[in-house]
Amino acid sequence: MDYQSILQEIYDEIQPYFGQGRVADYIPALADVPPDKFGLALVTIDGATYTLGAADEPFSVQSIAKVFTLTLALQYEPDRLWTRVGKEPSGQPFNSLIQLEIENGIPRNPFINAGALVVTDCLLSHTTDARQELRAFVRRLARNEAIDYDVVVASSEKKHGYRNAALANLLKSFGNIDNPVEEVLDVYFHQCALRMSCLDLARACTYLADGGRSPLLDAPIISRRQAKRINSLLLVAGLYDAVGDFAYRVGMPGKSGVGGGIVAVIPNVLSICVWAPELNAAGNSLVGTMALELFTTRTGLSIF
Ligand code: DON
Repeated sequence: MDYQSILQEIYDEIQPYFGQGRVADYIPALADVPPDKFGLALVTIDGATYTLGAADEPFSVQSIAKVFTLTLALQYEPDRLWTRVGKEPSGQPFNSLIQLEIENGIPRNPFINAGALVVTDCLLSHTTDARQELRAFVRRLARNEAIDYDVVVASSEKKHGYRNAALANLLKSFGNIDNPVEEVLDVYFHQCALRMSCLDLARACTYLADGGRSPLLDAPIISRRQAKRINSLLLVAGLYDAVGDFAYRVGMPGKSGVGGGIVAVIPNVLSICVWAPELNAAGNSLVGTMALELFTTRTGLSIF
């Protein structure tokens, strides 16, 4: 497959879509990102890498970090975690409070904010330094020791994170948070504020494309069964209430973040990450979704 030529064609075709979305501004530090940025990186399970645009430029991963925290938490609470968090699509915005109240403090899935707060609580309970552990994990997966937290974004989120604070307090009131709410929020805001490039993220997610094994490290990260389960959850919940539209148009398990990144995998083939900061109404990258739709259309690769 001539991936590089296909990527170049996609780059030409997405141009009319710039300017149609909106950069996230509910976290003030994210509003400063130039809206016309674009990067893409593709890594096959054989280790071949293809890039386009600003593939090396770090950006705020935001909710994409939820994939890595879930992967870590499942090592600590493989069964208990699923008594605290569901496995169903939410059909609600990622920061919705309504469903959590109605469903007695059990978030629908680990990728909405409420679910990720429970996952973060699990990490805090089982590690001495959850922030450091998460950073070491993504550095290892991406093979990049320079990956770090953006402290400006983390503190901007903390200052303006009223909904996340409300979710964490609601979870605590239902007994579904074991640690102090402030500590859970601190680790949550930092995970969202990880700065990684498309190349970092595509590399880091190769374990989901290769049955739980990182082809870059030539080492198992999780079991094949766990990789299957995480991919399945990404397919039903990785893009919030736009998950059906993404499955329909793209046909890959994927995870978005309000920084404009989307990672997606084709099991047994490749991992891909696209970054374009302007978001659609559901909070997912508008141009990024289009680029991935063109990618699966042009290559004929999808999970279906
Ligand atoms: O907690 C928040 O609202 C953000 N730090 C992350 C949300 C997010 O990335 C949702 N993704 N599309």
